[in-house]
This record gives sequence, C-alpha cells and structure tokens, in this order.
Amino acid sequence: MSAIIPNPDHDAPWTKCSVDYHVGAANRPQIQSLEQRSYDLMQIEAGARVIDIGCGPGVDTIELAGRVGPQGHVIGIDADPRMVAAANPAATKAGLGERVQHFVASSLSLPFERPV
Ligand SMILES: C[S@@+](CC[C@H](N)C(=O)[O-])C[C@H]1O[C@@H](n2cnc3c(N)ncnc32)[C@H](O)[C@@H]1O
Repeated sequence: MSAIIPNPDHDAPWTKCSVDYHVGAANRPQIQSLEQRSYDLMQIEAGARVIDIGCGPGVDTIELAGRVGPQGHVIGIDADPRMVAAANPAATKAGLGERVQHFVASSLSLPFERPV
C-alpha cells in the first residue's frame, strides 16, 4: 500500500469519530434499515469485486463480503488506521477474512493499479 497523502478532510470533526461510535451508529435500527436498502440497490452479484472507500470499522465490508460469496472479494480502505485495525479482526471473527481485506489509504491516492 502506498503512503497516505495529506488530505484536508482529515481535520474535519467527522473524521475524528471512534471505532465504537461508528459501530454503534451502524447498529441503530434506522441506520441498519437504510444500509440494507443501499446494499440491495447495489445489486451485488456473487463473484463481484467491491471496494468500500471510507470503510470505517468494516460493518459494511463484512456484510458485502457475505453478498459476493466465496468467489467474490471486498476491499475496504480508510485513512484512519484505527478503523483498519478494528476492521480486519472483525472480518476474521466473522469467518470472512479470506474474502475481505482492509487497508489504510486515502481516497485521494488509491493504492491500486487499474482496473481494480
Ligand atoms: C461514516 S464513516 C464510514 C463508516 C462505515 N461505512 C461503517 O458502516 O462502519 C466514514 C469513514 O471515512 C473515512 N475517511 C474520511 N475521509 C477519507 C479519505 N479521504 N480517504 C479514506 N477514508 C476517509 C473516515 O476515517 C471514516 O472512518
């Protein structure tokens, strides 16, 4: 993975939330309902390759890893190392560590060659 380049967004208050805050927010029923709807609208098929930019602690990537199935793959990136440090063990705990990986990276410098 490449180094993170400076991003003015990193000083924004909403980038300073804790892992617990993100997990707690994602577990609120209203948010869960919206998230499930957003997953459905993505029409992700088995075998798909998905990237979540700003993946936080991996709530969405783990759900999406279930949807892509064993032939698919999900990558999450987040500029906050605390999020990635929480997301990878969460994926492993969910039994999906082979299918989803999380990396520290900025949206302004995606560490992938094209096509993703
Ligand atoms: C609202 S949270 C995402 C929550 C996550 N989708 C979940 O459901 O748990 C937004 C995330 O975007 C990350 N972020 C903000 N700016 C970013 C950037 N330029 N590049 C990568 N990640 C960024 C923040 O660190 C934060 O974890």
